[in-house]
Amino acid sequence: MRRGIKKGYIVAIDGPAGAGKSTVSRLLALELSGRLLDTGAMYRSVAYYASHKNITTATGFSKIARELTFGYDAKNQSLLVNGQELGQRLRTQRVSGLASKVSAFKGVRQTLTACQRKLAKAWAQDCPVIVEGRDIGTVVFPKVDYKFYVTADPKVRAERRYQQLKKQGSKGISLKAILKANIDRDKQDSGRKHAPLKCAEDAIVVDTSKMSINQVVQFMTEHIKGRISLVGE
Ligand code: DC
Repeated sequence: MRRGIKKGYIVAIDGPAGAGKSTVSRLLALELSGRLLDTGAMYRSVAYYASHKNITTATGFSKIARELTFGYDAKNQSLLVNGQELGQRLRTQRVSGLASKVSAFKGVRQTLTACQRKLAKAWAQDCPVIVEGRDIGTVVFPKVDYKFYVTADPKVRAERRYQQLKKQGSKGISLKAILKANIDRDKQDSGRKHAPLKCAEDAIVVDTSKMSINQVVQFMTEHIKGRISLVGE
């Protein structure tokens, strides 16, 4: 019996920093006419407000997480935090480093995980939802139909970030420093006790070292569409 194509579903995309995950997730959401839930931006928001308010304790981080509200700006595919888009304010080196630290705390993770489940499930009533992060396929949505783990050689990841920063006009950046920061962040994200970065057993691993962004998006789209039509038969 033909059940038809499901309108809403969740796609989990995990992987280390700088593997192209964010760009791929954004394009995939466009390709599937879906929404993007950037869970890294949620951890970054906690870090941003903690940094602003000089908060340095686990209790303080958890309180910030509980007080934040999240929404979505479909036009820019961006997360709204307390009704506003924080944009590049979430992308500084300081916020990146602190986000990795705050994300290690159980209280912060519990609150944000609950928010992520609520938002994605509500959105998936109407359209596909691409949820991007570190623990989406393992902890937040272990049972979803589509799971990808996007990775790349650490040197390739550092080189991409270096080129991106150069293009944005950043001065005084060094490839070596970026490589080190990436390795430190991966270590911190994979080594933490609560929901560490790891590949779900049933995720499809996509190594983007030698693939273009478009090739990755095409691969994922074909996989998802292929599976959807199988489900629909
Ligand atoms: O994806 P990103 O670089 O924007 O993530 C920022 C930090 O948040 C990163 O160091 C790891 C953490 N993070 C997490 O622990 N779990 C997620 N689901 C997403 C991000």
